[in-house]
Parts: sequence; structure tokens; C-alpha cells
Amino acid sequence: MKFSTRAHWNAPVNQLTRERAWRGELLDLTETNPTRAGLDYPLDELADAMQRAARAPYDPQPLGLRSAREAVAASLQCDADDVVLTASTSEAYSFLFKLLADPGDDVLIAIPSYPLFEHLAALELITLRTFPLELHRRWELGPIAPGPRTRAIIVVNPNNPTGSFITPDEQHALAMHGIPLIADEVFLDYPLDARGTTLVRDDLLTFTLGGLSKSAGLPHYKLGWIRVSGPATERRAAIDALELIADNFLSVATPVQAALPELLRIAPRIRAEIAERTRANLAALHEIFASVAAARVLPVEGGWSAVLRVPRVMSDDEFALALLDRGVVVQPGYFFDFTTEGFIVVSLLVRPEIFAEGVRRIAAMIPA
Ligand SMILES: Cc1ncc(COP(=O)(O)O)c(C=O)c1O
Repeated sequence: MKFSTRAHWNAPVNQLTRERAWRGELLDLTETNPTRAGLDYPLDELADAMQRAARAPYDPQPLGLRSAREAVAASLQCDADDVVLTASTSEAYSFLFKLLADPGDDVLIAIPSYPLFEHLAALELITLRTFPLELHRRWELGPIAPGPRTRAIIVVNPNNPTGSFITPDEQHALAMHGIPLIADEVFLDYPLDARGTTLVRDDLLTFTLGGLSKSAGLPHYKLGWIRVSGPATERRAAIDALELIADNFLSVATPVQAALPELLRIAPRIRAEIAERTRANLAALHEIFASVAAARVLPVEGGWSAVLRVPRVMSDDEFALALLDRGVVVQPGYFFDFTTEGFIVVSLLVRPEIFAEGVRRIAAMIPA
């Protein structure tokens, strides 16, 4: 059977995943699924909202139901005409790549970053090029060199996993390239050591992404959004084109759209619960690592993860495998394209007792 060459359909599973599969109970510090993190969701209210929404008739609207777009617009303080609904942020990327790039074109993204983008770009036959996030006192955007076929610059604000926001100065510098911007702001509602500013522009076509997955801790409800900003003519043209793309799929389910105004009213409470968890875990991480001289917790301005700088006495993969022997699962830095060894990523969403014990075992592995 011949499949396309868009992806490595039978790519080998990496050693860490293989090793992990046959071990018993582990302290999993990679858990980023909020529905598996022991959070106290208002399940009755969510069920009531979805039950009421189940009565809505099918009204296929490629950009999303007006009532749902208005609810998103109210929370973003923008015009509902500038909001496009998708089934997820991942789908939003796929629509935007279709809109902006032809096969062989490229998009630029700051690394270290979430590994999903490589696959999303490959599936659209476009090339992912990178530019660095550099660690100074904080993670800062490094030099950006768009090529002749660069069609978009993607930034994650705050970034996963470095937790760094894109500051207003950096936003301005990005816009100077005159290339459409995609700002993934799924974690913007989760400030930790700093506060972020949304990236919307009136001088450049800009797509700002968000969704229920993170901002309401409801990834399984499958609803995301794109807010389009920029000069009016380009903005309208982009939304018209997105409407054509979305019309082929009509992928956002009616019940979740009909329930959206209510879901967005419930969301702040779920967010507060998640924020309390991530803050408590970050505090525990700092406390445990305060006495570990050879390693440190890197600055975390926002988001759901933290990065540990560990001594480069072995590769990050060997470090992660050695931790597995001690019953702890972490993500080695290379999963996120850190350019050197010595980085370990942990999720701040993990149940506090598992998190603290896992982190203690990491600390115990670091040579004095
Ligand atoms: C930075 C970032 N963008 C997008 C996503 C995917 O979000 P969604 O569930 O809306 O597709 C994730 C998921 O972890 C993410 O970390």
C-alpha cells in the first residue's frame, strides 16, 4: 500500500515511550490533560449547559453560530465579525496554513516549542523553520530571518514549555517584518511570575488563537477560536477565505456552540482551580530545588509547565530514563527542540502529592 509522504506514518516509537509502557505505577510529571488531573469540575453545571444545548437545531454556519462568536467576542473584547470558530487550536493552525501557504512555503516558529507544529506543518506540505528563544534573565525572542517563501511567523504567548510571554516590545519587533503573525494564546489566562499582553495588531494581518481546551480546561469539548486583527480590507478578505475553508468541514459541533455562552460563564471557576494547582506546584518546585545547588528552576512567566536546568552529566534522554528507574516520568528537553542538553520539562498540572514526590526524586538524582 502506498501512502503519501506528508508524514512518517510508521515512525518508530522512542525508547522513553517504549520503556514507560511496560513499567507499573509511575509518578507521571508529563500529565497535561486537565480532565485527568483530579480537578474539581462543576460537572452538574456543565451537564446542564450541554443538556439545554442538545435541543439546538442544526444550523451550519462555517464561521460558527453568531451567538457563540458573540460570546467569544465579549470575552476578548472585540467584534464578533472578527471571530472564527474551529474545533480546536490544532484545527485553527491547519486552516491558517491552508489560507496562507502553498506547498513548499514556510512558516517560522520560535524554539524550544511544543512538538505538534512540526506535524501540522508537514500535513499541509509546508516547511517549519525556526528561530531561537534565548535564555537571558528571561526567555527572549532571538534574531528572526524570514526567507522569500516565509508566509507566517508563529509565536506562542506564553510559550509552551518555556512559559515566556511575548512582551509588547517583542510584538512590535515581530510586526516589523510585515509577515502575517499567528499568536497562540491558549495559555494567556494563566499568568505565574508575570502577566502577558494579547498580540493583536491593527497594522498587520494577525491571527490570535485560543480555545476551551486550556482556558476552560475542556479539551474534550472541542472548540477553539481565531481572532483576526489587522487592516480592515485584509482582515475581511482573510475571514471570507477562512469561511470558504471552514465550509468544507463544518467541524464544530452544534451543541458545544449553543452552550458556549454558558460554558464561558463557567470557565473562570475552572481556570481558577487550574491556576491554584499550577501556582502551588510551582511553589513546591521552587522550595524543593532551593537546596539543590547544581540545578535550577528557570523563570516561568505563565502557562502549565516548568523547565529545570540540570547538570549535563548525561544526555537528557539518559536522565529521563534514569528517572524512570526511580519511578518518575519527565519530558527531556529535546522533545521541545532545546538546542542543548541539560533541560527537563515538568507539567504543573499534576496532582500535588504526585508532583512533590516526583520532584523530590528528581532533586535526589542531581549530584551535589
Ligand atoms: C501551545 C499549544 N497550542 C495548541 C495546543 C492544542 O490545543 P487544542 O486542544 O485546542 O488543539 C496545545 C496543547 O497542548 C498547546 O500546548
